[in-house]
Amino acid sequence: MSSDLRIDIDRLQARLADLAAIGEIAGTEGCARLALTDEDRDGRDLVISWMRDLGLEVTVDVIGNAVGVMAGEVDGPPVMTGSHIDTVRTGGRYDGNLGVLAGLEVIEAVKAAGITPHRALAVAFFTNEEGARFSPDMLGSLAYVGGIAIEEALAIIGIDGASVGDELARIGYDGSAPLPGPVPHAFIELHVEQGPVLEIEGLTIGAVSSVQGISWTEIKVTGQSNHAGTTPMHMRKDSGFVAAACATFVRDLCEELGGTQVGTVGRVEFLPNLVNVVPESAMFTVDLRNTDEALLQYAERRFLDFLQKTAAAESCTYEITTLARFEPVEFDRKLVSLVAKTASGLGYSLKTLPSGAGHDAQMLARVCPSAMIFTPSHNGLSHNPAEYTAPEDLEAGANVLLQTMLQLAET
Ligand code: GLV
Ligand code: MN
Ligand code: MN
Repeated sequence: MSSDLRIDIDRLQARLADLAAIGEIAGTEGCARLALTDEDRDGRDLVISWMRDLGLEVTVDVIGNAVGVMAGEVDGPPVMTGSHIDTVRTGGRYDGNLGVLAGLEVIEAVKAAGITPHRALAVAFFTNEEGARFSPDMLGSLAYVGGIAIEEALAIIGIDGASVGDELARIGYDGSAPLPGPVPHAFIELHVEQGPVLEIEGLTIGAVSSVQGISWTEIKVTGQSNHAGTTPMHMRKDSGFVAAACATFVRDLCEELGGTQVGTVGRVEFLPNLVNVVPESAMFTVDLRNTDEALLQYAERRFLDFLQKTAAAESCTYEITTLARFEPVEFDRKLVSLVAKTASGLGYSLKTLPSGAGHDAQMLARVCPSAMIFTPSHNGLSHNPAEYTAPEDLEAGANVLLQTMLQLAET
């Protein structure tokens, strides 16, 4: 009976370790595979070799998304799973990678049991989910669903000055499958929670109901460099001061708004960045997120208002670039219930919760019923090499993925 089928946790763990060895951060369990770097290419090559070992039909599209398909009894759109294998520079081994390798494991378990599902099964990894090198995040899945013109996507310039198109060609992942990609029957993504809720509440599985809205802005403030010792405070055009005041304001604003509002200044670059020079220019990024679109817009307005007043008072100018802007996304209710029912049927404790992080599933939700499964993250740590999920939780999550996909493949 396919409802008795389970994944092999040792095989899944072994693949997680093999992939994490590429770009490994010495002395940690984590890895650094920024999108479209040599490390990302090596990770891609490894995962595609595993797809081929399983006899999957593999396609790579023009933005470098890779999809491996196992045929079903009928032609038609597959039940798709997947995630990403790019990481931030201080990445853990589970963020994204778990969803891709658990997808492979699901297919291996199904094949090993000699089962041919009614519908095809597919596992995908999407390009540049993290957005740490190229903005926006979730770029590959956004392009997959037709949310960005391919010329625009290929022209995006990363933090190191390289373009998506050039880097795809350089690493040999400028594939030929056209975009938008084929619409799946349904999409279901397994991911680590990356937050503390499941662990604190002693739960094994999260049935993810939604993803909060994301607003990323890059601000470049221009002032005037001058001598740090001789320039009276009232005569300064200190771009660094404006950036620092804005960073503090982001924290104060989140505390004032409360609820789900979070805010981060994650990147700051001063020029000329010297101890005794008032900064000529300051570049910084602001990441604001909220589950409520109206509140997110309010936070954006409050921030821009503060920036405008602070820059004017310091006689500085500024330019703003939107790096990413995605509204909150609700997942398919029936699919969320199916995840919850499947998890409780397998005996796992669970809750339904929103996601604080962005995910490829939120893009797929634009074109097909989509949902996600979360497993606990120890101490709520992610985007950190110490990210950790216990093997029994990985196993539980992958089994929920397996059984949810098998049921979807019969509908
Ligand atoms: C992307 O994964 C994000 O949530 O920052
Ligand atoms: Mn992720
Ligand atoms: Mn991430």
